[in-house]
Amino acid sequence: MNITIVGTGYVGLVSGACFSEMGSTVTCVDVDEQKIENLKKGILPIYEPGLENLVIENHKEGLLRFTTSLESAAQECDVFFIAVGTPPDEDGSADLQYVLQVARNIGRVINSYTVIVDKSTVPVGTADKVKKVVQESLDKRGSDLEFDVVSNPEFLKEGAAVNDFLSPDRIIVGCDSPRAIKLMKRLYAPFSRNRDKLITMKVRDAEMTKYAVNSMLATKISFMNEMATICERLGVDVENVRKGIGSDQRIGYSFIYPGCGYGGSCFPKDVNALIRTSRDMGVEPHVLASVARRNSLQKEVLGNKIKERFGNDLCGKIFCIWGLSFKPGTDDMREAPAIVLINELVAAGATVHAYDPVAMTQAVGEFSPSFFQENRLRLFKTPYDALVDTDALVLVTEWKTFRQPAFQAMAKVMRQQILFDGRNLYDPGEVQEHGFEYHGIGRNFGGNLSGA
Ligand code: UDX
Repeated sequence: MNITIVGTGYVGLVSGACFSEMGSTVTCVDVDEQKIENLKKGILPIYEPGLENLVIENHKEGLLRFTTSLESAAQECDVFFIAVGTPPDEDGSADLQYVLQVARNIGRVINSYTVIVDKSTVPVGTADKVKKVVQESLDKRGSDLEFDVVSNPEFLKEGAAVNDFLSPDRIIVGCDSPRAIKLMKRLYAPFSRNRDKLITMKVRDAEMTKYAVNSMLATKISFMNEMATICERLGVDVENVRKGIGSDQRIGYSFIYPGCGYGGSCFPKDVNALIRTSRDMGVEPHVLASVARRNSLQKEVLGNKIKERFGNDLCGKIFCIWGLSFKPGTDDMREAPAIVLINELVAAGATVHAYDPVAMTQAVGEFSPSFFQENRLRLFKTPYDALVDTDALVLVTEWKTFRQPAFQAMAKVMRQQILFDGRNLYDPGEVQEHGFEYHGIGRNFGGNLSGA
């Protein structure tokens, strides 16, 4: 099949590469000329495991093309995917201007029956708006071409997006037209070989499903973070509680890891957007509002623990931060807990030494230039260099490379042997055996819990 994907951001590029991998001919369109030129040369705008290879190979084979011209892409196109950004407005609702602009342009260039798919995460009712603007464009041309609008939300996790796309749990297709459903079934057939993964529903139901999934997952995390806070006060180890509840199949082990808060481009944005939508509908979203509030508080937890241990004035103290991206496997810094923590530490007078396996370039833009000019924030090439002369290590993002550090060697170069484990990555007993003082999230374990 011939597909056009508008927007070569995270979602668009992964979708394009994966559809071409499954045999479709894909044209990726973007207004950013530099980005398109780079993609033709195999230079990707984002880091995502496995993606570069797919892009380069399928581009070489002619299955994946890049262009800035929507018009040329529209020749012989069966399905258009809209995969442009929906940044949050000031009030938290999703800004649809890019989606609608693309829809308008699609209406100007289509030349046969077309299915237009919303892949971007968009509020309930967006498909109707897309339909309206496409129709307006066609009317202006005096065209009576037929088209359908489909909602097909993505469920890609950064760092695992290629695999998530190629082997999805399910494919949600929201569509009110049998003709379009038939086409979507054909398009996704290669992804459903073992079992039929396509779940069809009305357009608005699909749009809501996306928000409900992300809100549910965010709720699990915030719930667990609240449990951790309560456990800490009760002298209970949340890690045992996590294992205990995860074994209940109705709850499951995923997304119940307590930590220093969720970040990224989806959870914070989507929870806030649903809160906004809900209030617009006259429904006070009590649960969602608490999920968002707990997460804001959770991002402050590490800073608070550090101040409890060292005092509010951190002048003269140096902290080593391991992990800057919002989660492992990505260079994405959006809404990363490390941002809140580093700003907090620097504001309290501390100096920060930081290391991340891939996000350091991205990180530079997230902080005030004065942090770097005044050496309040220094980025290091290795995790061990970042530790030299520091008063504590703070683990913020649980990259695999941090799982089994050389504690003995670390202890020798640090000023004080103190560890704040923002992801409960380490075994507190083992860390203590190496002479470190351990502070986790909601942890109470045999022996000392210093500072608690
Ligand atoms: C998420 C959804 O999983 C995906 O389906 C959707 O399309 C986009 O949003 P992503 O943002 O890439 O994906 O990351 P995810 O792996 O879901 O993690 C989100 C955040 O939650 C991270 O900050 C992570 O550290 C945090 N998290 C996750 C926890 O704190 N505890 C957990 O148990 C799981």
